Amino acid sequence: MTQKTSDRYGVIGNPVSHSKSPLIHTQFAQQTSQQLTYTAELVELGQVKSFVKQFTENNGKGLNVTVPFKQDAFELATDLSERAQRAGAVNTLTLKDNKIFGDTTDGIGLLNDLTQNHQQTIKNKRILIVGAGGAVRGVIEPLLLESPASLIIANRTVAKAHQLAEDFNSFGNISACSFEELNNQQFDIIINGTSASLSGDLPPLPDKLFAENACAYDMMYAKEPTVFMQWAKQQGAKIILDGLGMLVEQAAESFYIWRGVKPETQSVIEMLR
Ligand code: ATR
Repeated sequence: MTQKTSDRYGVIGNPVSHSKSPLIHTQFAQQTSQQLTYTAELVELGQVKSFVKQFTENNGKGLNVTVPFKQDAFELATDLSERAQRAGAVNTLTLKDNKIFGDTTDGIGLLNDLTQNHQQTIKNKRILIVGAGGAVRGVIEPLLLESPASLIIANRTVAKAHQLAEDFNSFGNISACSFEELNNQQFDIIINGTSASLSGDLPPLPDKLFAENACAYDMMYAKEPTVFMQWAKQQGAKIILDGLGMLVEQAAESFYIWRGVKPETQSVIEMLR
């Protein structure tokens, strides 16, 4: 009797060896008794299309997409979810029936981490997002759908913040400003979506931004608290979180898209810590 080959999944990136996704998805598969393999795939720049074709021909059923290929994946997809269209990026490809379905699960990943893992409510809260790059674009829609009192995007290059506010204003109360214009404002949740943490930098934010019992969330994570998290502590934020939970939650959402089963995330987050 010939044994059926396992469905193949993976993450494409460059570099990609640091990715925790293989570990996360392998845990999900074990936990839900799904027969599949999930590997990290280093793809050369400009080779995404040929890689995806070859992967599909070899029993590949789905791919996660990380830096620098989210834009390539967006362009390669033959079908896009509405949220991926609006986010302008794709982190999940589903390979099925000669089609490539593109979706983005980053935003729902952040939302689930905040609301389910950390019991934060978004409704009627004053939210500040720092940064206006691709990572931020991907998370605005699900946050606005939860009806915050306000969502302000502050960015070093203010024009990019204004552009985002314009693109998403049909979803709720969103506006944009510079870092200086944040003076004398207060927020219940402040999310750092800049890449500044990667280089150990801190955006120049004014003091006293945190309201009582406020939450600080860095979409990045590292072994040690990021500079943004250290700053939030010094500024009196009550709850201070990094993006590890978001990473696991976006993976869980991808897994669900592919397999139709929702894995349990808490034990996987704890394992990665
Ligand atoms: P990503 O896909 O990770 O969002 P990106 O699109 O390059 O990457 O966006 C990076 C974001 O981090 C931008 O909002 C950037 O600000 P600018 O739009 O002004 O460039 C922000 N950023 C990066 N380094 C920063 C720093 N040292 N201080 C403040 N903002 C920073």
